[in-house]
Parts: sequence; C-alpha cells; structure tokens
Amino acid sequence: MEALTPTQTQIKTEIEKRRTFAIISHPDAGKTTLTEKLLLYGGAINLAGSVKGKKTAKHAVSDWMEIEKQRGISVTSSVLQFKYNDCCINILDTPGHQDFSEDTYRTLMAADSAVMVIDASKGVEAQTIKLFKVCLLRKIPIITFINKMDRDSKNPFELLEDIENVLGINTCPVNWPIGSGKEFKGVYDRDSRNLLLFTANNGQKEVEENIISVDSPNISDYIDEYQLKDFYDDISLLEGAGDSFDLQAVRDGKLTPVFFGSALTNFGVQPFLERFLDITTPPLPRESDIGIIDPVGSPFSAFVFKIQANMNKAHRDRIAFMRICSGKFEKDTEVYHVQGERKMKLSQPQQLMAQDREIVTEAYAGDIIGVFDPGIFSIGDTVCMPSEKFKYRGIPTFAPEHFAIVRQKDTMKRKQFVKGTTQIAQEGAIQIFRELDAGMEEVYVGVVGTLQFDVLKYRLNNEYNVEIIMEGLPYKFIRWIKNRDLDVKKLDLASDTKRIEDMRGNKLLLFTSMWSIDWALEHNKDLQLEEFGTAEF
Ligand code: G4P
Repeated sequence: MEALTPTQTQIKTEIEKRRTFAIISHPDAGKTTLTEKLLLYGGAINLAGSVKGKKTAKHAVSDWMEIEKQRGISVTSSVLQFKYNDCCINILDTPGHQDFSEDTYRTLMAADSAVMVIDASKGVEAQTIKLFKVCLLRKIPIITFINKMDRDSKNPFELLEDIENVLGINTCPVNWPIGSGKEFKGVYDRDSRNLLLFTANNGQKEVEENIISVDSPNISDYIDEYQLKDFYDDISLLEGAGDSFDLQAVRDGKLTPVFFGSALTNFGVQPFLERFLDITTPPLPRESDIGIIDPVGSPFSAFVFKIQANMNKAHRDRIAFMRICSGKFEKDTEVYHVQGERKMKLSQPQQLMAQDREIVTEAYAGDIIGVFDPGIFSIGDTVCMPSEKFKYRGIPTFAPEHFAIVRQKDTMKRKQFVKGTTQIAQEGAIQIFRELDAGMEEVYVGVVGTLQFDVLKYRLNNEYNVEIIMEGLPYKFIRWIKNRDLDVKKLDLASDTKRIEDMRGNKLLLFTSMWSIDWALEHNKDLQLEEFGTAEF
C-alpha cells in the first residue's frame, strides 16, 4: 500500500474519530434527557435539565419547532455534535411518534448506529413498534438504553424478552440492575464485575457514582440480604441462558447490547457512552452505483437525507441536510450535484446546534452539514467531486396510508397555498398529488401517519399564512402506474378508483380496497402497478 500524504493522514485521523448515531424512543421514554446528559459530558452545553414540558419554560436544545413545543413531541430531526475524549460525536434526533417513522427512517440512513431508549416501567410500547422496526430494516447496530431505573420498573428479564419477541432482535445485557425505584441499588457491570452503586439524592440532577467489586466483602453494607440473593440468582441465570456478547453480531444489527440506567439522575450515562464508543465504528464504506465508496480513501461525497424549510421564521430559508460519506468537505470548494447535473459551491455550509448555527469551513465523513437550498435538492441526492460523478443508493419513500383533499379557505391566497404545500412535500413531510390534468386548487395529500396532517395544517397557517379546509378521503392504497405510455384515461376502473398524478407527472391510482386493485388489473391486461418505494426492503 502506498504511504499516505500528511493531508490524507490528517483526514484519516479525523474520520476515525467520528461516531454518528440516531437516537430513537417512544415519547417520554427519556430521549431528550439522555441526549442532554450526553452533551453535558462533551461540554457542548452548560446546563442540562432544560427538558421540555409544560411545567418549564425552557425547552431542550433539540426541540426547537413551535409545534414540538406545543405538543411536546419531536416532529423533525435535529443534529447535535459534541466531542468526548478523542471522539467527535454526531447525534441525530428523531421524531418519537410512529406517525413520523418515515422521517426516522430517512434519518437512520444518515446514521451508522442507533440508540434505542426504553422506559423501564413500560417496555416496548405498542405505538413505537413500527418505529423500532424501521431501525431493524437498516441493519445497523442498535444499542438499547433502558431508562428510569430510579422508578419502579418491570422485571428486567421481561424487558429483555419484550425486545426479543416484539422486535425480533437478540439481547445481551452489558450491565444488570439491582432493584428499581426506591429499592434501586445500582447496576452490575458484567465485564468488569464491578457494581456501580446508586445513591438516592432527593431529586438532585447529579448523583455520586460509587464503584465496588462484586467480590468485595463489604457488599452487604450497601445491598440488603434479600436483594443480594435475587441479584446472585439473576446473574447465574444470565450467565447460563443469555446470549453472550458478540461484537460482530452487534455490528451486523443482530444483537443489541442492553444498558440499564437513569438519564435524569445521570446514572450509568458515562459508562454507557464509553462502551458505546468501543462498540460502534467510525463511518463505514457505502454502496454507490459505481461500487463501494471508502470513507477515507475517497474524496468528498455526501447525500441529502433531509430538507427543512423555514427553520428560522425570520430568514424564510430552506436547508438541505447532508451526511458526508467520504473525505473532507472544505468550504468554497466546487462540488458536483449529481441529480442536478451541475457544478456548484455549497452555499453557507453550517453545522447546527438546534437553533444556533455555525458556519463550517471543514467537515469530515460522518459529519452532517446543512446547506442553503434554493430549491434544487431532493431527498436522496448525491453531491461529490466533479471528477467522480456517482450516485449513492436512493432513500425509499413509504407508501402513504391516509389521504385527504386540501384546499385553501381564502382563494386569494392561492400562491402561498401552492408554495406551502409544494415546499412541505419537497421536504418529504407529506406527499402531494392532483387529479389528472387539474390545477393546484385542490391538492390530494398522502401521509403515512395522520399526525402529519396536523403538521401540514399548522405549518401552512404558521409559516405561509394560509388557512386550509381538509377533507379525509376513503382511499387506503396507492399504486404507481409503471408503464408510462399507457393512456390512463382509457383505463377501465371500478367507480371508487381515482386517477391522480404526482408533481413529477407520474400517474397513479388510488384505491379503497385490495379488491379494486385486483379489479383494475383484471380489466386492464396491460396495466402494471407498483407499490411506492418498497422495492428496497
Ligand atoms: P422524550 O424526549 O423521550 O419524550 O422524554 P424526555 O427526556 O422529555 O423525558 C420525559 C419525562 O421523563 C420527563 O419528565 C423527564 O424528566 C423524565 N425522565 C427522563 N429520564 C428519567 C429518569 O431516568 N428517571 C425519571 N424518574 N424520570 C426521567 P416530565 O415530567 O415530562 O418533564 P419535567 O417536568 O421533568 O421537565
């Protein structure tokens, strides 16, 4: 192998420091609290505990959109970066609600691993199964943090069983809790055979971490006899029956290491972070249409995984978020936008700390940058050096499951209405269609989860000053007409089937039942239908 130049060595060193992960959970499981504690270790923010909630005026740094504040849910994903020891960590926040699982999936495309936060008193909650399953689709390492051990929890074995049965992934506890709630004594680290003792602290945010060996003769000074007995029983059961830690299985997304702790009291967070950094890898090679792209060996390349308009109302701007997959990004370098087929400079590249932005002059594979988007980027687009010209694999769209027809209340606001719905659709927050050959007076909106309708209504009103009337439609299935030269108007269709087109002019059909799909196929022998975006799963 040829020796690396000093510049290549510097790039390699920087990339090897990178860890980029998404954090997912059911709302209220403690994702925001855990994120803030992790940031505290990196010194990225001075004050944790500004967790959102009606009771407090402060909001967590990652929760910046109005609607999120009002509803206490995370709708969009934001990106946070911090340094810890020698690592540079990028955290991608994801929406906690399953109605936004498509956004979570897109964010996971930009992540190299995922942290799954689970509330110990609740286990895997029904509403989040879809969200977690989306995580499994990506086949990236999933690390589980079982939170709120300072509250009464479910039996830890039951919690593991829950994860295994419901999500279909094997578990391997890295540590093991002793009691929970008022009886919570701490966790046992199976690797070092040390106990990290939990000290009740009358609600203070920080607790003292006290470590003793499991073989210490003084153990009974800290833990009652009956709890010790249960603990020893648990441990022998674990050693006998549990999956052993297999780093490769973790990296292949087949086994999830499980940590017990309490984010609010900052208990077990640091050991979690340190093990997490050992388990996960720096950015790995990614597939493209010209083969595998190595993060270190290749020059700058990135893909767009998220587009967000109006992040700052005062600026009325649109930002494309890119995940750098290889090399080093340098401000003012000419790059190539593959889908747009043109050379360009990325305008105002910035890294975001929630609402605060910092212009970046350089960034490396693993990092996320936001660039000003004058409306040229789409989700999944590749940007690389002009000499390279390749495409990363696209990001699939989920088939919408709910449909509504939307029109503006005040017909004078037509321009804003069209702009608003189009921009929100370009961001991937909704999908829009129109009746064949119709204008944009009425827009058909398709969503994966019905909360997306609320977001549309709120954002049109708040950001575009347009009030809308929305009527639910009975359609349940959408199919793309694969043979483009077919005369759609001549199709023989059941009376409840609707012909529509998307913004690119692709023709689609909306159906109320599987029966009408079969009917359409039977009566039109040439017709070829495709379900949206599922090809890649
Ligand atoms: P999310 O982002 O997953 O939605 O959850 P978030 O961190 O906002 O936490 C939800 C609630 O759970 C918050 O309480 C938070 O303080 C609490 N919480 C988080 N981690 C722990 C933990 O380890 N132990 C305990 N006992 N509670 C925890 P809240 O009442 O909704 O807000 P606040 O009044 O505390 O701000």
